[in-house]
Order: sequence, then C-alpha cells, then structure tokens
Amino acid sequence: MDGTAPGRQTTSGGRGGLGPRGRGLFGRLFESLKAPAKPRREAVSIAVASGKGGTGKSFLATSLAVLLHRAGRRTAIVDCDFGLACDHLLMGVKPHLTLQQLLAGQATLEQTLCTSPCGPRLLPGASGVRRMANLTDKELLAFARELGNLAQGEDVMLLDLGAGIAPATVLTMLAADWIVLVTQPEIAALVDAYAVVKCIAQVHDKARFLVVVNHVSVPGRGEMAFQKLTEVARQHVGVTLRYLGEIAEDPSVMQHRLGQLPLVASDPEAPMAQSLRDLATRLDELCGGLQPRDVPAEEAIEARFRQHRLFL
Ligand SMILES: Nc1ncnc2c1ncn2[C@@H]1O[C@H](COP(=O)(O)OP(=O)(O)OP(=O)(O)O)[C@@H](O)[C@H]1O
Ligand SMILES: [Mg+2]
Repeated sequence: MDGTAPGRQTTSGGRGGLGPRGRGLFGRLFESLKAPAKPRREAVSIAVASGKGGTGKSFLATSLAVLLHRAGRRTAIVDCDFGLACDHLLMGVKPHLTLQQLLAGQATLEQTLCTSPCGPRLLPGASGVRRMANLTDKELLAFARELGNLAQGEDVMLLDLGAGIAPATVLTMLAADWIVLVTQPEIAALVDAYAVVKCIAQVHDKARFLVVVNHVSVPGRGEMAFQKLTEVARQHVGVTLRYLGEIAEDPSVMQHRLGQLPLVASDPEAPMAQSLRDLATRLDELCGGLQPRDVPAEEAIEARFRQHRLFL
C-alpha cells in the first residue's frame, strides 16, 4: 500500500510510466466526464467608480437605477460605499437593515433588500460604521456570495462604489461586467481617474470602462476631457476607454432635498433629467441591451470576485 487512493493511481504516474503529457490527457478526459456546473442566469453588473471623491457617482447610479427600472429592466442598486452609504437618502428609503447585518449573517438578502418608492430595489449600506470600511476576508466572501445571489434575480445590478482604490472597491470593479468611471473636467479629477484605470488594468486587461464627465460648465468640455483621458490610458496602459457622455453642472442637483424622490422622478421635464435619460439610453446601447445572460457558475460574479481576491 502506498497510501494513494485507487482512483488516483492512473493519473499519479505511479503505474504504466505515463509522462507528463499522458497525465495531462488523462486529467483532461477525467475533467470532461465530470458533469459541468449548471449555467446560471445573471444580471449585467455595472460598477460606478471614481478616483476623486464627490464626482457624482451616487447621483448618477441612483438616477440610472430609476431610469432603467422605468425602461422595464429589473434593476437593483447596491450601496458599496462601505461605511459611508447614502443611496437610501437619495432614493427616499429608510432602511432597517443594511449590508452590515447581511454580511454578519444576522439578516438574509431578502430581509435586507428594500424596494424604493420609484421601483428599483436597493441593498443599503451602513453609514458611519467605521469597521465596515475595512471588511474582513470572511465579510468579503459573504459580500461576493450575496452579489451572486442578487444577480440571479435581476436584469441589471448597479454597484455604487466609494471613491478611490480601497481593496473591496477594486475587487468589486474587477468582478463587474462594466465600469462606469465618473470624473470631472479638472486635471486633478482626470489624474485620479487615470490612476483607477491603471490600477485595474494591471490586474485585468479585459476590463471595460465607460466614462462619464460630470460637473461640466461649458457644453462639449466633457468630451474634450475624455479625449485627454483616453489618450493617456491608451499610451501608458494600452486601455481604450469608451465615452458615455457628459452631465452639466446644475444647481438644481445640489438644491434637491435629501429624502425626496430622485430628480429624474420628481422633475422629469428638467434638462438634467433629459440628459440623464440620454445617458441611460447610451449605456443600454454600449452594453449591448442590458439583458441578463446565462453564465457558467465558474464565470459568475461571485467566482470572478473570489478569483481576483487571490491576486490582490
Ligand atoms: N451635475 C451636477 N451638478 C451639480 N451638483 C452635482 C452634480 N452632480 C452631483 N452633484 C452634487 O455633488 C455632490 C456629490 O455628489 P455624489 O454624492 O453623487 O458624489 P459621489 O461621487 O457619490 O461622492 P462620494 O465619492 O463621496 O461617494 C452632491 O451634493 C450632489 O448633489
Ligand atoms: Mg457616493
């Protein structure tokens, strides 16, 4: 007895003098006999990210959630600004439970999800909870699992991230199907946006970026800023970015009271609401229709999150 399980002998090289190529062949045959995991239906996941803080991620993500819901997509938004969540305020929701209880195993996904007055579902984050800003490994894995569970019941999943490149933020970007990078025309914001692209491209060379330039005071400045950003990204990290559009600086956004319905719902005729609708339409076009699709379990969002976690 050499202690090797009988079923393993043929592939261990202990019998028959199989060389490395032979073992590879047997291994591949064995793999192909195993029943493949059933594909699962999964929402399109869109991470809304930025380098600099305050560029308008939460404003954009909550507005898009309402517009996509109204366009007939089953839409959920996840407040991934760990510890500094605010999407519930922008959507007029008062949550009793948040990601904090969900990730601690004290509540289920269904108990934590809220349906906002405008229709999209919200997975609220915790606000002012310092320990949520630094998730443990166990919490990160629980987060990945819950993203996977949520994605199975939706068409689109918007992930509203905190600014910057904290590990949980980077992992969420890496796991998402698309990254909407929100920036501003100022050089400091563009430099920070480039830093995010560089950081992601180092780990994942197929990441897909769409750029929104917000706080634009002169029409057309957004596209000029985008051209500078994509040129630098192409030259230095070989990444081509795609332009989603610009959003004008508009005092009505700041004046909008917290707890009210989002502006796209409360003031749908406003120019701001129209430009957000144009962005939602273009997002739908660029992402190829924002429809859920079947993915093998090993390529689903939870698996992608876990795989990237190993390399960070
Ligand atoms: N186009 C705009 N015109 C005027 N004000 C805007 C515009 N977009 C966003 N704002 C305002 O800018 C502030 C920051 O917006 P928001 O909270 O959406 O940014 P954020 O990127 O999510 O910030 P953080 O990095 O802190 O998560 C808010 O007060 C918001 O109302
Ligand atoms: Mg925010």
